Formats: sequence, structure tokens, C-alpha cells
Amino acid sequence: MHPERKVLVAGNWKMHHTHLEAIRLVQTLGFALERMDLRHVEVSAHPPFTSIRSVQTVVDGDDLPISLGAQTCHFEDLGAFTGEVSPVMLAKLGVRYVITGHSERRAMCGETDEIVQAKLKAVYRNHMVPVLCVGESGAERARGLTEERLSEQLGSALAVLNAEQIASLVVAYEPIWAIGTGENASLKDAEEAASFIRSVVAGNAGAAAAGSVRVLYGGSATDENAAELLGGDDVDGLLVGGASLDPDRFARIVERAVEAVKERGSASS
Ligand code: 13P
Repeated sequence: MHPERKVLVAGNWKMHHTHLEAIRLVQTLGFALERMDLRHVEVSAHPPFTSIRSVQTVVDGDDLPISLGAQTCHFEDLGAFTGEVSPVMLAKLGVRYVITGHSERRAMCGETDEIVQAKLKAVYRNHMVPVLCVGESGAERARGLTEERLSEQLGSALAVLNAEQIASLVVAYEPIWAIGTGENASLKDAEEAASFIRSVVAGNAGAAAAGSVRVLYGGSATDENAAELLGGDDVDGLLVGGASLDPDRFARIVERAVEAVKERGSASS
């Protein structure tokens, strides 16, 4: 992590928790977060659509230090798209971050790079910030194709954004082989990928954008490996799946991020 980029710890709840369970989770999480120094660490929660309104009410009502997130959205603002949710609706609920191009949606919902491009534009059009997921499969990594895959996914996304949008973008490096497997990337692998992502951004949008884009790591991140994963220069936070479903465990991850920021501060002073 870099002193000038605010760390982001994002919880992707995927298809977990009813709205009542979601309310309990954010209340417990909020209670734990209130004791922490969150000046340099931001926390976001990405519940399923059915829980966003409930979570928003608790976050607003109790003034909790949690940014509201969504897991996807449609690329049009309105229309005949049965079952879809519009970015306008999310923005109206106070959603700040929208996960875009998660590998589960790419694999299971046919989300192509072209669809991801349209969604990125929709998220920015509605004044929210995408958390763009990129990452290679195990087979691609074994064949040495990690950077090629990251370049393709990122290059396609960056092609439709302007420099100002890119500077505020959050990119999550989520190697598919690490998602939900208990096998996280090493610090070295995560840092190499994050640094490569930053170099692709630099090539497309210049050094200033590359310096301000935040790059998260996601894939079996837990309270046990968070300190290690946050120990380098280029990883600016974590996108957490399974370990974000338990508020105490997720709070411990945030605590590790707060400690990492402190250590970084004392190392650079
Ligand atoms: P896990 O933390 O459960 O591996 O999930 C990672 C992920 O996909 C977050 O978006």
C-alpha cells in the first residue's frame, strides 16, 4: 500500500444472507469498526440486491463507517430488462462501489469484456465507482499467460474510460484459482500482478492515473493472511468473499489493514 492511496477493504457477500441477517451483520460490524482509526482505511459492504436497502438504512441511521456496494448492475439506466437492476436505482440508494466483471459473472452469466465495458460506463455515468475484477485461471497461470490475460481484460476496460475515470477506478486482481479455494496468492504473486496492473494503467492513461488507481487483491483473503497480503507497495486493499460473511472475522481483516497503514507510516517517517 502507498501512503497516498486510501486502503479499501471490500466485503463481497455474493449470494449470502437474507435482509434480516444482513442487518445483524452490519450492526455487529459497525460496532467493531467504531473502535478503529479509519482515517486511512475505507470499508465497503456488497450485499445482494435484496439487502442493499436494509443495509443502507442501518448504515445511515447509525452513521456507520461503511460504504455501500453492489455486486453488479445492468448497463442501461432503464428499459425492458426483466429481472435486472439499474445503476440509477443503485445510485439513488447511496451505493458508492459496484463490482464489475467478477469472474463468477464472467463464467456463469456470460459477461464478456464488451458487457463489462458497457457496465463500467454505466457505473461512472451514475457517479459511482467500479471495482473492476480481473484475473487469470489456474490453467492460464500454469501456461504463463497471467500478464496476457490481465492485459486483455484491463486493456478492454480502460479503452472506454477517460483519464479522470481511470484515476478513480478500483481494480481487483482476483486470480480465479484462488477464489473460494482456501489457496490465496502469495504476497509476491499479488504484488507482481498489482504492479503489472499499474504499469498497464500507466501505458493507457499516464503515470498520474497509475499512481492513484487502487488495486485490491481478492481470492481466499482472510484475517489470517491479510497482514501478509497488505505488506507490499502495490496492493491497496482486499476484496473478501467468504471471510466477509462473519462480522468479527471481517472486522479483524479491517484491523490488519489499519495496522498495516500504521506500520507503513512509521516506516516512512
Ligand atoms: P473468497 O474470498 O471467498 O475466495 O472470494 C473472493 C472473491 O471472489 C471476492 O470477490
